[in-house]
Amino acid sequence: MILRCSACATVAVDGALLCATCGDLLAFELDPARIDAANIRALLTARRTSNDHRDRSGVWRFRELLPPVPYEAIVTLREGDLPLYDAYTGAAYAGVDRLTYLHQGMNPTASFKDCGMTVAISNARARNARVAVCASTGNTSASMAAYAARAGIHAVVLVPATGISESKVAQTLDYGATVLAIDGDFDAALAAVRKLDPTRVAVVNSINPYRIEGQKTAAFVLLEARDWSVPDWIVLPGGNLGNTSALGKGFREALALGLIDRLPRLAVVQAAGAAPFARAFASGTALEPVVAKTTATAIKIGAPASWKKALREVHASGGTVLAVDDDAIADARAVIGADGIGCEPASAASLAGLRALVAGGTIARGADIVAVLTGHVLKDPQYVAHYHASGAARANPIVRVRDEAELMARIDALAGMPVPAVGR
Ligand code: F0G
Repeated sequence: MILRCSACATVAVDGALLCATCGDLLAFELDPARIDAANIRALLTARRTSNDHRDRSGVWRFRELLPPVPYEAIVTLREGDLPLYDAYTGAAYAGVDRLTYLHQGMNPTASFKDCGMTVAISNARARNARVAVCASTGNTSASMAAYAARAGIHAVVLVPATGISESKVAQTLDYGATVLAIDGDFDAALAAVRKLDPTRVAVVNSINPYRIEGQKTAAFVLLEARDWSVPDWIVLPGGNLGNTSALGKGFREALALGLIDRLPRLAVVQAAGAAPFARAFASGTALEPVVAKTTATAIKIGAPASWKKALREVHASGGTVLAVDDDAIADARAVIGADGIGCEPASAASLAGLRALVAGGTIARGADIVAVLTGHVLKDPQYVAHYHASGAARANPIVRVRDEAELMARIDALAGMPVPAVGR
């Protein structure tokens, strides 16, 4: 695989983070001619019965399509084999006949970051890195801390001192990382990280091209689980825009290898108070950073690092970008929970965005749609508890019972009511 600048195509040296010529982000380039595409499906099927730890990972199972990492350096927590779920209530809420969730929150540290982190930290270990650093709204830090702990690498995270989920910080502390809380937002933290010398410390934000390579495998996992049938639309939340870049790249590579015959369209959804990418897409002009404001704290990002890469993927797929407000995200999140699934607030931007795209006529009721859920419901329990106590549209408040008679009466009343008709 060749590492090149994603903007000017200059070839870069392995280990670099930015193009030496123009300063833009780097990307690995897969040469389809060097892959035995005809045998990939058979190889993947054979790996299902293998106990090699790489074959049990939904990332390393696709190692022929990843930059090479020595066997001994690989740090895996069996990430990436993500479930697809039918979304009954979600489909009705969005106004479509059928909807599927790809749940990336079912990863070892409960977010999609693990798919990229296993590759970035394995590469850091292969390079004998002693310290790994990231800026984070919480999920990258939890993921990096876990993989670094297992690799024997010091983990240092830069997080905003306020406004990120306590659960994510708790995970990060538990895995032993040094947490540096700054007076500033994610964008300030990432700006500081970008000043570090990548030859001294491993920078594992999604500006690191190894992260993107790991995350692209979610596209392969999704397609494989659908027997390589291509959905019409993939709807996903957008913050720093690494995941959009990664999924777009994965689908393009699957097409180049002949595993699929067309690309799904990407719909990227931002929170209205953190929507510089939606604005840039609509205006056709360069992204103007904003000071981000949203209760979906994972995507509270005003200067997304990967916007140019992501824009190319959205255009290549014939996709779109939109913004939804925080109340729409909050209700959509509860709808996802009501199907017995659940996700964190930022993830629910996908369902809220889908609903808006169906209402606006961009996505047809009969389309084949996959909404990506990026993080687990337990990532932000304070938000969930607050929602259900709030009197919001989908709130399900705790019922306080006075005595045993009331308790029995309430259970009896439910026993006499029709059961909800879902997914039967
Ligand atoms: N969903 C969740 C749950 C996230 O944690 C993030 C980003 C996104 C969506 C957006 O993905 O940045 O690839 O567009 N979280 C980062 C973090 C910024 O630090 O955990 P993106």
